[in-house]
Amino acid sequence: MRGISDGLRITNAMRTPIIAGNWKMNNTIAQARELVNALRDDLSRLAARGSVEIVLCPPFLAVPVVAEMLQGTPIRAGAQDLFWESKGAFTGEVSPSMLAEVCAYVIIGHSERRQFFGETDAHVNKKIHAALAHQLKPIVCVGENLAQNEAGKTAEIVGAQVRAACAGLAREQAREIVIAYEPIWAIGTGKAATGAGANAVIGLSIRGALADLYDEEIAQAVRVQYGGSVNAKNAAEFFAQAEIDGALVGGASLIAPDFIAICRAVVK
Ligand code: PGA
Repeated sequence: MRGISDGLRITNAMRTPIIAGNWKMNNTIAQARELVNALRDDLSRLAARGSVEIVLCPPFLAVPVVAEMLQGTPIRAGAQDLFWESKGAFTGEVSPSMLAEVCAYVIIGHSERRQFFGETDAHVNKKIHAALAHQLKPIVCVGENLAQNEAGKTAEIVGAQVRAACAGLAREQAREIVIAYEPIWAIGTGKAATGAGANAVIGLSIRGALADLYDEEIAQAVRVQYGGSVNAKNAAEFFAQAEIDGALVGGASLIAPDFIAICRAVVK
């Protein structure tokens, strides 16, 4: 069995951590402006040191506004989803080329999309291909639900999600993706995983799957975030883990002082 520190060891000191705020369906355009105003100076200073990448992912309507407010700063804007077709009769959808005009990142396969909007592993894979074809960096979410966790199926589920997400991706494309390990039972529940628990899943199941699909170099190069009830108090515990390269933050990314504190915890 693969150990979490096996192989060609590149510690997370060699991967730049990335912290993304997933605002979900929160904030009107006016509220988005207010939040960016409260975040911008502190986050710019932190990101300018080059030791963390920071991404804000508002709802679609606010993406252009937020992106414009972040121009000239090292903070990046991202979207929370995209459709895989480039244009046409797909009412309600937003295409990769539309997003590429305004933002750099896109969250793909969030468990809420899988759960409430019927997204499958195959959809997730198509979206990743579409994003990469338009120079958008995907933040790909994987994670097991409570029943799967309790049944001891975490490794199997997470490994399978990573394999499905990467189907047809060339080695150099795989290098571009960010993976977010988000156990569903930890999202929005206040019950975060432990640092050590998340570290083990990421090392064994996520980097393990990448090593099988590609090689150890890719397994160690891809950045993997933890997500699920990350807050200002527990963030440092996750960032201290060798396999964890930052966080995907939901609720706490809506509260300026909390999100700033989380970003500060990673540069320490
Ligand atoms: P949470 O959400 O931080 O509110 O648990 C994380 C996420 O869903 O990305």
